[in-house]
Amino acid sequence: MAQAEVLTKPQRPPGRVADPCIMVIFGAAGDLTRRKLVPALYNLAKAELLSREFAILGVAHSPMSDDDFRKKLADDIRQYAGSDIDREIWEWFNRRLYYMTGDFGDKNIYAQLKSKLGGLDKQHSTHGDYFFYLATAPDFFGSIVEQLAAAGLMDEKDGYWRRVIVEKPFGHDLESAKALNQQLLKVAKEHQIYRIDHYLGKETVQNILAFRFANGIFEPIWNRRYIDHVQISVAETVGVEQRGSYYDTAGALRDMVPNHIMQLISLTSMEPPVSFEANAVRDEQAKVLHAIQPLSSEEVLTRTVRGQYGPGIEAGKRVPGYRQEPDVPEDSRTETFVAMKLAIDNWRWADVPFYLRTGKRLGAQNTHIVIQFRRAPFVLFRDTPVENLMPNQLVLHIQPEEGISLQFAAKVPGPVMHLGAVDMNFEYADYFGTQPSTGYERLLHDCMIGDATLFQRADMVEAGWCVVSPALDVWKALPPRNFPNYASGTWGPKDSDELLERDGRHWRNFEK
Ligand code: BG6
Repeated sequence: MAQAEVLTKPQRPPGRVADPCIMVIFGAAGDLTRRKLVPALYNLAKAELLSREFAILGVAHSPMSDDDFRKKLADDIRQYAGSDIDREIWEWFNRRLYYMTGDFGDKNIYAQLKSKLGGLDKQHSTHGDYFFYLATAPDFFGSIVEQLAAAGLMDEKDGYWRRVIVEKPFGHDLESAKALNQQLLKVAKEHQIYRIDHYLGKETVQNILAFRFANGIFEPIWNRRYIDHVQISVAETVGVEQRGSYYDTAGALRDMVPNHIMQLISLTSMEPPVSFEANAVRDEQAKVLHAIQPLSSEEVLTRTVRGQYGPGIEAGKRVPGYRQEPDVPEDSRTETFVAMKLAIDNWRWADVPFYLRTGKRLGAQNTHIVIQFRRAPFVLFRDTPVENLMPNQLVLHIQPEEGISLQFAAKVPGPVMHLGAVDMNFEYADYFGTQPSTGYERLLHDCMIGDATLFQRADMVEAGWCVVSPALDVWKALPPRNFPNYASGTWGPKDSDELLERDGRHWRNFEK
């Protein structure tokens, strides 16, 4: 048995080495750079997926020399790499790190940047190919790209490419997202703009497409005839930590739904694309996002739930409520939990509710998608002690468990016909092992080879905002009166359970 498993184990294919290029990180002194970007680039170097002709130029406000920057990142990588550091690889990588002190609002730094890039380009033979990563506060996104373009740094000619990766949040509502798209598209082409959503960097999220479209058995039942409803849960146990001042202006709805959760919905519900070419996939994603019925104001009241955590017990420890977190006002009305019932208005999904929820300080850290199939007809078991047939559930486990399980009914051994729910389980780690990953490796590599499939197009971002707009408006007009309304360490406000119970359904919670 063990031997057969080894023989059939799929192998990780070698990847294509990225193009020679320079990565410019705006906001290089910040958290994202040390926690995610640099560890991801190091992992790519280790996997031999970075070109030998590669360099990184960090730009940020804090004064630092190249050497200071190198030392700082050498200290940080030990903490965030997720595995032991290979000295030789790190030294190779470290020699390619450069730093420029500058204020993003200061027009003069862009000319300076251009000349610095010209020098590095010669030194590292990077063929004039640059990409700019905007790891800054969102207020700077538009103006940085305008200044890059004004300095001629977005021009693509003589065979070289220029790209820009824009972090989230992309706008704070539909209007601001549209305005930002317009601002960017005035000075850059859509194919140069890579709007990143780190959920698409997760292997298990990408696997949704493989699971659906590389297997013949699921697609025929992936529709309203067989599926009763879909649940998408993104549950976190952490609170807002040190991000209170950002989070209090955003809230759970803006922070998670138009971006991460819309990715999960679109991949789960889209039609098969005609190919895996970037626009073919994104056309289908955009199409299904546009098919999500916008909620009316009345529906916002009955189909959405918001919550804010109070103090409670998380992993055996007492934790404070949201209003006691650093940089959060004592009377904050910002939601840290949201649940919604959405409908997709097309032939495949008519009458199949999509329930989604996300929140901080919930009962367990768990992101998963439950596809619940229709119940089998009761006929056969009518005269037996079987009272309730449990419906089949297919669960796509995104994190921290990574895998797929199918729940079905089996006869409990014994003289009487009793049924029990059992699970058939596939775990990623059993087949593929685990590799240190930040989720950014694939996305950075894709940008370096010009594959935008896993990045958001302007229309997709706007479609995501369209879905949440009615809730943002109604919630603003009717501030919550019962916050905090769930204790830390629980599964959110009771209204969230009632949202499903009214329809005769229940959330599936995965406890540790
Ligand atoms: C970020 C949100 O985009 O995603 C955070 O701003 C959230 O609030 C995080 O915690 C979740 O990402 P992950 O990869 O930990 O599920």
